Amino acid sequence: MYFRYGFNSCVLTSVQERLKARKHVQSELTKAGKPLGVNLAKNKLSTDAVLDYVEGVRTLGPLADFLVLNVSSPITPGLRDLQGKEELQWDSLRSENRPPVLVKIAPDLSTQDKQDIAEVIMEFCDDGLMVTNTTVFSEMCTLARGKLPIVGFVGVASGQDALDKIRAGASLVQLYTALVYQGLPVVNKIKIELYILLKAQGFTSVAEAVGADHRVTEKTVKPQN
Ligand SMILES: Cc1cc2nc3c(=O)[nH]c(=O)nc-3n(C[C@H](O)[C@H](O)[C@H](O)COP(=O)(O)O)c2cc1C
Repeated sequence: MYFRYGFNSCVLTSVQERLKARKHVQSELTKAGKPLGVNLAKNKLSTDAVLDYVEGVRTLGPLADFLVLNVSSPITPGLRDLQGKEELQWDSLRSENRPPVLVKIAPDLSTQDKQDIAEVIMEFCDDGLMVTNTTVFSEMCTLARGKLPIVGFVGVASGQDALDKIRAGASLVQLYTALVYQGLPVVNKIKIELYILLKAQGFTSVAEAVGADHRVTEKTVKPQN
């Protein structure tokens, strides 16, 4: 099996041409509930990373249903430094005519980084945040004061895995490795397991379960009068 690891890609304009050529196909797919997301990162040797992201948004934004700005890859040197508050001041993105933009962050951030990211993202784009482990995204959920939709990912292979992320605050769940090992049927398996678990825990929908762990914690720590 062959994986492209670490953002290997042809140049932006090639991707743009390819997406343009299948624009009509994609618009039908989008209508059928299969949106196209494009993941953007800075170039390995770039000296102006923010410009790279802005260029990516400008070029591929009109061809995508949503974009993911990736500031988490351990592969591209310096990418993680972008998560600092100053580097995230991407004011120009605010004015772009663009689809929703999610920001994908790393699992091992300092408390200050998390605070900065939550503040800056809420300022410049309130579309959403992609977060790996449940501890970090529980914290991000609190820091973002419930205002940012959160996508949980890494290690989802069962309904229980999905529910853990949902209860911690995710309103969407992404998976990849389980698809590689178990194939597409894993999606239905997860949905059935999730349905059974939600019902057993008294939820009537996924939306009701989003952030349930925070509500339990809040109730537990609330001072008794
Ligand atoms: C082989 C492989 C390469 C990946 N490369 C990247 C990458 O370059 N940048 C990135 O943000 N995520 C990358 N990911 C993460 C996926 O986009 C996805 O978020 C993650 O795999 C989901 O977690 P799961 O595989 O445990 O389901 C990669 C994942 C795999 C398995």
